[in-house]
Amino acid sequence: MCKFVGAGMSHLFEPLKLRDLAVPNRVWVSPMCQYSAVDGVPNDWHLVHLGQFALGGAGLVMAEASAVTPDGRISPGDAGLWNDEQVAAWRRINDFVHEQGAATGIQLAHAGRKASTTPMGEGGASVPESEGGWQTVSSTSNAFGALAAPLVGVGGTGTALPMVIVMCSVVFGALLVFTALGRRGAHSTEVVARQRA
Ligand SMILES: Cc1cc2nc3c(=O)[nH]c(=O)nc-3n(C[C@H](O)[C@H](O)[C@H](O)COP(=O)(O)O)c2cc1C
Repeated sequence: MCKFVGAGMSHLFEPLKLRDLAVPNRVWVSPMCQYSAVDGVPNDWHLVHLGQFALGGAGLVMAEASAVTPDGRISPGDAGLWNDEQVAAWRRINDFVHEQGAATGIQLAHAGRKASTTPMGEGGASVPESEGGWQTVSSTSNAFGALAAPLVGVGGTGTALPMVIVMCSVVFGALLVFTALGRRGAHSTEVVARQRA
């Protein structure tokens, strides 16, 4: 334990209790997209990536932005959490991290008009459908920068939807995912929607 605690210094290595969640320390790992999933399913890459932080003693390990629908992925290699195969794959990783004593979390996301792009380190340009990309959807038909223009409406209905409805649909998707999370046993969840920003 840090000998400076009590002398007005850092509580970094003190446990933290959030309702029923006991986190062994305040070292939390930020979500980091790995662009390494196939059809949204995390794999050994994610096990090693997240597992090593738990082995290193992090108190909470937050899994990368994981899409709640296929068209919500930032890139074709993004992780997801919309089907049972993904739930099972996440469970394996989750269990390993728990076994090291760390708490887990996941960032649920929908990339909106910023979806279907190449990874950050490869330019971040739109991926055409012929190369594994897809039509993006958003609350606006305005393209983000040089990216391909989105269809307006959830699921590309062509109906102009107020932002609040789009946000509700994202949150509803997230709620559906919470059911999966219950089976997966994650401790914390962060919801992110990138419809406009
Ligand atoms: C490779 C990489 C992937 C990232 N992926 C995500 C992500 O999935 N979600 C997110 O909110 N931030 C993501 N970020 C941002 C980080 O979570 C973090 O906020 C950023 O690195 C700044 O952290 P710092 O303020 O502790 O330096 C990513 C950063 C990096 C370097």
